[in-house]
Amino acid sequence: MKAKDFLTVRDLSQEEILETFRIALDMKADRMKYSEALKGKALALIFEKPSLRTRTTFDIGIQQLGGYSLYLSPAEISLGKRESVYDVAKNLERMVQGIMIRTFGHQIVVDMAEHSSVPIINGLTDYSHPCQAMADYLTMHEVKGNLKGLKLTYVGDGNNVAHSLMFAGARLGVNVSVACPPGFEPNVIAYQQACEDAKATGARIEITHDPVAGVAGADAVYTDVWASMGQEAEAEQRKKIFRPYQVNEELMKHAKKDAIFMHCLPAHRGDEVTDAVIDSAASVVFQEAENRLHAQKAIMYQLMR
Ligand code: CP
Ligand code: NVA
Repeated sequence: MKAKDFLTVRDLSQEEILETFRIALDMKADRMKYSEALKGKALALIFEKPSLRTRTTFDIGIQQLGGYSLYLSPAEISLGKRESVYDVAKNLERMVQGIMIRTFGHQIVVDMAEHSSVPIINGLTDYSHPCQAMADYLTMHEVKGNLKGLKLTYVGDGNNVAHSLMFAGARLGVNVSVACPPGFEPNVIAYQQACEDAKATGARIEITHDPVAGVAGADAVYTDVWASMGQEAEAEQRKKIFRPYQVNEELMKHAKKDAIFMHCLPAHRGDEVTDAVIDSAASVVFQEAENRLHAQKAIMYQLMR
């Protein structure tokens, strides 16, 4: 990996993403093979939002590589409030060999990366969730056997997860369709960047307001919560707006027969997805969750060695 940090999927070339998948699958096949790869190295985990998967997989992942982690809770640091982002970076770079951050504004991880000499890994911002997209395409690759030319349809809010799926799809040659209500499209710049990146691979990146049209011919149907962390106050209003975008058995009928169902989790069952879909044979949501571990270990291994 050429980049010092992993802030968005766009930091990686197609070759670097595929190399990360190769290492991740090698780690998945033989956990002990890498048990001393990051021996004695410390990873700080800064969380300003809750987490199950990200916390567990980074914490366990660094230990499986021979290192150890330090969890810093939302109450402890208050990036930019208790202390400037610059000062946090200048302190931590003397104490740890890598920093994972889950926070609100994307600029915070950008600033941390600029000021810190040790790698910064984005564990979710309001703008992107790159570790998630790596685990998701790794999963799609495992299940489908290949990626190029496949179609992934993301149904729901044009949020951080949607952005990262577009970025990675563009790099990998996966066609990505985002079906969202008017006014909830992905960020315009993110969409333009994905379209620009897609020119190199021929991937089609499209936005539609029609979930049925979006899902047509899809190899994977993906959804996420309608109100992300930090948008709790809008949750009730969003429920009404997003109702026609629920992924249910009726909508899945419009995808390919062998289409898989994907979700980053946590899921709000009965809202963005029904039990019948998330618990169906087509659902790979727990495989995605497990693959967070393998994908992130491969990223830490490359950045922190
Ligand atoms: N998908 C995901 O990032 O899960 P957590 O919010 O539980 O970390
Ligand atoms: N879009 C969701 C993803 C959670 C993993 C959020 O930001 O809350």
